[in-house]
Amino acid sequence: MAQERTFSIIKPDATRRNLTGAVTKKLEDAGLRVVASRRVKLTQAQAEKFYEVHKERPFYGDLVSFMTSGPVVVQVLEGENAVAKNREVMGATNPADAEAGTIRAEFAESIDANSVHGSDSAENAKLEIDQFFTEDEIVG
Ligand code: CMP
Repeated sequence: MAQERTFSIIKPDATRRNLTGAVTKKLEDAGLRVVASRRVKLTQAQAEKFYEVHKERPFYGDLVSFMTSGPVVVQVLEGENAVAKNREVMGATNPADAEAGTIRAEFAESIDANSVHGSDSAENAKLEIDQFFTEDEIVG
């Protein structure tokens, strides 16, 4: 398969515990390359827009307030089959269901504080990347 890009967020629970490097190492060990990276504190508007798809879900409010509770690291990851590979190394959304060795199994605290976000499709990856990076900020 050709090179593909996906979008990743290292969430506030992970930055708070100084796990940015540990999480990134897992991504790199899985064969993904960090081709853009920025540490930011999401605004309420940015978090609401990013998670708009979940607007009607009961957890939306808590999700937005958690994602704005501390710094996050937004990243573009590149590699073969990057969307699926990233989802595999992240593990299941709920850490209780995540396979041993995955990021969420090792680091996540709960389904909300689950350390990482990753795009669920190539189409959404493009939309998510475009929300945070311009093409000239992505250097492969
Ligand atoms: P993420 O991949 O960032 O996408 C949406 C987030 O909502 C998800 O990770 C979880 O952290 C959070 N969340 C909280 N409750 C649920 C739930 N019941 N189902 C899915 N996601 C949830």
